[in-house]
Amino acid sequence: MRFATLFCVLFLLLRFGSFVESIIVPVDFLALQAIRKSLDDLPGSNFFDSWDFTADPCSFAGVYCDGDKVTALNLGDSRAGSPGLSGRIDPAIGKLSALTELSIVPGRIMGSLPHTISQSKNLRFLAISRNFLSGEIPASLGELRELKTLDLSYNQLTGSIPPSVGSLPGLSNLILCHNHLNGSLPQFLSQTLTRIDLKRNNLTGVISPTSLPPSLQYLSLAWNQLTGPVNRVLLRLNQLNYLDLSLNRFTGAIPGQVFTFPITNLQLQRNFFYGAIQPANQVTIPTVDLSYNRFSGELSPLLSNVQNLYLNNNRFSGQVPVSFVDRLLAANIQTLYLQHNFFTGIQISPAADIPVSSSLCLQYNCMVLPVQTPCPVKAGSQKTRPTTQCNEWRG
Ligand SMILES: *[C@@H]1O[C@H](CO)[C@@H](O)[C@H](O)[C@H]1NC(C)=O
Ligand SMILES: *[C@@H]1O[C@H](CO)[C@@H](O)[C@H](O)[C@H]1NC(C)=O
Repeated sequence: MRFATLFCVLFLLLRFGSFVESIIVPVDFLALQAIRKSLDDLPGSNFFDSWDFTADPCSFAGVYCDGDKVTALNLGDSRAGSPGLSGRIDPAIGKLSALTELSIVPGRIMGSLPHTISQSKNLRFLAISRNFLSGEIPASLGELRELKTLDLSYNQLTGSIPPSVGSLPGLSNLILCHNHLNGSLPQFLSQTLTRIDLKRNNLTGVISPTSLPPSLQYLSLAWNQLTGPVNRVLLRLNQLNYLDLSLNRFTGAIPGQVFTFPITNLQLQRNFFYGAIQPANQVTIPTVDLSYNRFSGELSPLLSNVQNLYLNNNRFSGQVPVSFVDRLLAANIQTLYLQHNFFTGIQISPAADIPVSSSLCLQYNCMVLPVQTPCPVKAGSQKTRPTTQCNEWRG
């Protein structure tokens, strides 16, 4: 049967070959036909209109060739608002031996990513985001030694991240956020890995201190169920410019050095972190969220240059340094959330003119509120923490 089809194709190619500029190898031709058969335009999308197999496939929308082989497939109309494609990814995708790039626009692609994809040994870029891919990530992806970007975010993938994917030697971007992945974080071996986004999965376990390379610039592990300390992991990652560990079950301390990394957004909220926050230098990170943890100790004045500082729902104590009030009144601080701590005072005049662009919340601390400021609804209506709690805290 296979041979019969191949023969037909060869015959057609020989017969009509002279009419078209370039002709791709029969294997690629057949693979494209199989891929086309298992996919369709969603209503409103006209992507496949140009896929007429009596013409040269290299002229089809989204098909790129080098000589007689397909090197890139960008499936679906990439214009914003296009409805995308439906169907499945045919295992014949693996037959495209020169393929370096495969992407599919957001749509309704179902089923699993065929493990045969590992036969496209030159694949460098694989991005199928915002579809309905299910099943597990094939461990055979580890055979794609050239793979630099793997983006399967916003799908329905289950199972764990194969250790073989962590071992890919040239991996730069791993984006698997918004799936149902479980199990633990693999060891990442690529020394050129810059971006890991695994937020909104079901990952568990601890992160071994050497599992993430120092080349990382973007790390999001938010909304998982990861546990254990991260202080030793973080100390190695001094090139981070984005760090989101929020909504996990991490414990332990956060080293002061982390606050001097070139980070623009530091999200550590809703974990079980504890200990004092002692930045090594003046902190210039625009947004720092440490809320809903168990941090304690006095508030370091080195944090007063942060524009949005969320320290609420911790165990901070002592006086709020005057530098925070100065920065707030000068409209240099936009958000200063100090509610639900054990702070004992803040030097601010009851007549102080807090800029309208700034939010200060002081509710539920161990002080009588010197100023009335609007707090988020979640802060509750109690202005001051009960004295018994404050006395217990002071021992
Ligand atoms: C995580 O796992 C729990 C229990 O197995 C399940 O109820 C929940 O939907 C899962 N969440 C995600 C994002 O997959
Ligand atoms: C991960 O989820 C699968 C079901 O999708 C389950 O069979 C497996 O036991 C889970 N593994 C872990 C480590 O939780």
